[in-house]
Amino acid sequence: MITVVTTIIGGPGFRAAVSAQGTSGECHPSDPATCTLADLADLLGIRIGTTLEDFEIVDSDYVATLRREFTSVTPENALKAYSIRPTQSSWDFSAGDAVVDYSVDAGLEIRGHTLVWAKDEYTPAWLAGLTDPVALWTATQEHVTQVMSRYADRVRRWDVVNEPLATLGTGPSDSVFWSLAGDWIGDVFRLADSIDPTAELWINEYGTDWVPGKHAAYLSLVRDLVESDVPIDGVGLQVHRLPGSAVDQALLEQQLRDFTSLGLQVAVTELDVPVAPTDPGALEWQASQYRKVMAACLAVSGCREVTVWGLSDRDTWLDGLGVFSTPTRPLLFDDSLRPKPAYTAVRDLMAQTVVRRSLPTTGGFAGSEVLTAWAILTLGVALVMSTRRPRRTS
Ligand code: G3I
Repeated sequence: MITVVTTIIGGPGFRAAVSAQGTSGECHPSDPATCTLADLADLLGIRIGTTLEDFEIVDSDYVATLRREFTSVTPENALKAYSIRPTQSSWDFSAGDAVVDYSVDAGLEIRGHTLVWAKDEYTPAWLAGLTDPVALWTATQEHVTQVMSRYADRVRRWDVVNEPLATLGTGPSDSVFWSLAGDWIGDVFRLADSIDPTAELWINEYGTDWVPGKHAAYLSLVRDLVESDVPIDGVGLQVHRLPGSAVDQALLEQQLRDFTSLGLQVAVTELDVPVAPTDPGALEWQASQYRKVMAACLAVSGCREVTVWGLSDRDTWLDGLGVFSTPTRPLLFDDSLRPKPAYTAVRDLMAQTVVRRSLPTTGGFAGSEVLTAWAILTLGVALVMSTRRPRRTS
């Protein structure tokens, strides 16, 4: 997305400005309003993502915002088993193809979501009804093979297993997949690795940021995978927040580090922050929560992505959930796709972080040779960060 990165040094205190020629034109992080989220994500070497459905592709306002502001897409529903294989005898790749093809054409990275969703509620009835473990594993093999092979040249990152833990608990989820003998999660990862050895393979889980004990359970599950040499690259924390529940930034940062300490990448994969419909201060409060989540990610070098679960408030899944008062207004853009305070908070933090990372870390005056060397180094780092692809570390 970035075509030109320049480093300029000068002025009092040897202030550095990194500028990028992104989709928005010239981005000067010292003036955040000149930058899009996509510009800044590229400069920071992370992905900023959102969701896409096939029917949203024809919404010109939606895709204009998507292409301007984001670098990554998660198909919200189109790659789920219930979409692709609603009955045992019918495969339907139409929505998945549309979303994947559009995203590739737009130069957006894709998070393939998801190969195995370990919740009976979201597993096609024919699949959830397979009580014979051999038949279930055969069907799983067929599904993972078909889907990964079809998109191997375009989808380079998969949520291989989604939500293996109970939604509001710490034990196994309510899923037929847990009837498979032994290390079924490891088996699905090994299967995925055998089909596409160069794809990034991720696990993804809900509620680990706020359900008591769930982070520890998730960490234990992932540690077991790593210690068993399962080919896993990354760990997704969904971070669907509850209205009025403040983010503990230090805790979230520590939770991210717990996984990077295992040698894995991490990402915030499904962020949304619903608020009460009538609270006058809600949008400023929401902005501070978004800022804390982005800050936690930016503080952890292995945090590769923040994806928000929906583009604008009119698109959110939460308003149809029947749990919270509506409108829940949980996203970065309002119903008319206007940026909200949360957008500005995230953008400004990202811009400040670019500027801060561009400044010399030692105080005092440095000679011109030092400055020149530092400028070359900064330019090199910016270029590397804008092009680098994370690699498996385990
Ligand atoms: O497919 C039918 C369609 O035929 C019908 O016209 C339409 C009418 O409402 O419903 C369609 O199905 C809906 C589907 O989204 C596609 O729009 C389902 O009823 C609805 O339950 C489904 O909700 C999705 C949910 O996952 C279940 O798949 C949400 O949009 C989606 O945001 C949500 O995403 C999940 C992540 O994948 C995993 N983590 C949690 C997150 C929130 O639940």
